[in-house]
Amino acid sequence: MITTRSETLFEQAGKHLVGGVGSGTRSPRSGWLPAPVFVRSGEGAWLTDEDDNRYLDYVMGQGPLILGHRPAAVIDEVTRTLQQRGSLVSLAHDLEGEAAAAIADRMPAVDLVRFSSTGTEAAMYALRFARAFTGRDLVLRFEGHYHGWSDAIHWSAHPSTDTWGAADAPTVLPGSTGIPGAVGETLLVERWNDVEALERAFRDHGDRMAAVITEPILGNCGGIMPAPGYLERMRELATDAGALLIFDEVLTGFRIGPGGAQGMFGIDPDLTVMAKAIGAGFPVAALGGSRDVMEQAADGRTMHGGTYNSSPLVCAAVIAACRETGGEGFYEHLNARGARLAEGLVDAAGAAGIEACWSGVGALFQLWFSPQPPSDYREANAIVAGSPFFALYRELRDRGVLIQPPQEGLWLMSGAHTDADIDRTLEAAADAMPAVAEALAEGSVGPMGGLR
Ligand SMILES: Cc1ncc(COP(=O)(O)O)c(C=O)c1O
Repeated sequence: MITTRSETLFEQAGKHLVGGVGSGTRSPRSGWLPAPVFVRSGEGAWLTDEDDNRYLDYVMGQGPLILGHRPAAVIDEVTRTLQQRGSLVSLAHDLEGEAAAAIADRMPAVDLVRFSSTGTEAAMYALRFARAFTGRDLVLRFEGHYHGWSDAIHWSAHPSTDTWGAADAPTVLPGSTGIPGAVGETLLVERWNDVEALERAFRDHGDRMAAVITEPILGNCGGIMPAPGYLERMRELATDAGALLIFDEVLTGFRIGPGGAQGMFGIDPDLTVMAKAIGAGFPVAALGGSRDVMEQAADGRTMHGGTYNSSPLVCAAVIAACRETGGEGFYEHLNARGARLAEGLVDAAGAAGIEACWSGVGALFQLWFSPQPPSDYREANAIVAGSPFFALYRELRDRGVLIQPPQEGLWLMSGAHTDADIDRTLEAAADAMPAVAEALAEGSVGPMGGLR
């Protein structure tokens, strides 16, 4: 029975919009039950839906909204640019170089930048540039990592337990129907955070490897941190094999610190994929890297195109977002508030008798109903199978706090979240946890509480 305006709108949308939503991650299949929240407007850390419910938002547009909803400084600059220049010229203009410099200034490993509209595209041409530069085809990727939905790389992102194969030889699995099986022959899949697996992969295949691509913090599986020394070893092995190291910083770049995860860990990748927070909510992505690798696109040897690339609209957004997040102490505050929230959630769970912990950094984290956070996708799956994740989403949503329902979701912070917002969220969590504990006791566990 339809009872809310969101449910009515969802039903109406489904008449002509596939599945009633614009992307699979917004659908009831991804946990948005009983119906996706139909948003009327956002402001700062808050969302208002079509039923006049207000939520403290920790989805933050899946990551881009690093300054919250409708950040005045960015909106003003973009509006002025639109009025003075228009949205798109698809010809050269001065803001392109300025936006590229704003990114390169923050990342020592980035000499040159090219823009595109989505992270999927940027990851795609990262692979192309790596293959062109090395003259090799094979790419090593890891289970649980997401690098966009292209045929080239959407393999083994979130495989199911019954198909993922042996732990020391994961099956290379397409993430969708319609992806040619032959593409899988250009990929090698390993478990992440496992030095032995990494060394084995390079020992057996290093001479054929064009690149290894990794999220430096595993954002698409709950903000799992790399084990000490793991990324350093990956850097060494790639260099020794003549393969490129690609950091996919679509989630971490400009979110966890000024220089992303590479700045935090002090590791220089050869190529960096960026999107989301670099545009503070506008559709822009970038590939950055060393001059020798990136220059291949300059003389046309390696094709990179896109009508919408680096429009005045998105360049203005990048420039303004960099300026705003570059302010004194921006990331320190963001991470400190997020860490306080994460620790408070762990305490709230504990007070209700549920053992919990968290992983990630303040700006991007996940709460785990387990004594220790997982170290890779398979461990995360095992934790989720026995956890009341869906109950937490449902109970918080009922109390005006919106988080992503699926296990691979994250709590995403913005500069607009205040200390008072954190306090209010923790009050809601304390109120919600007894019901979450009940769900756990009843066995309402697993992805979507067993609903999926
Ligand atoms: C790490 C990572 N890489 C790539 C992508 C794809 O970016 P987009 O959705 O902009 O295509 C995402 C999206 O969530 C991501 O998290």
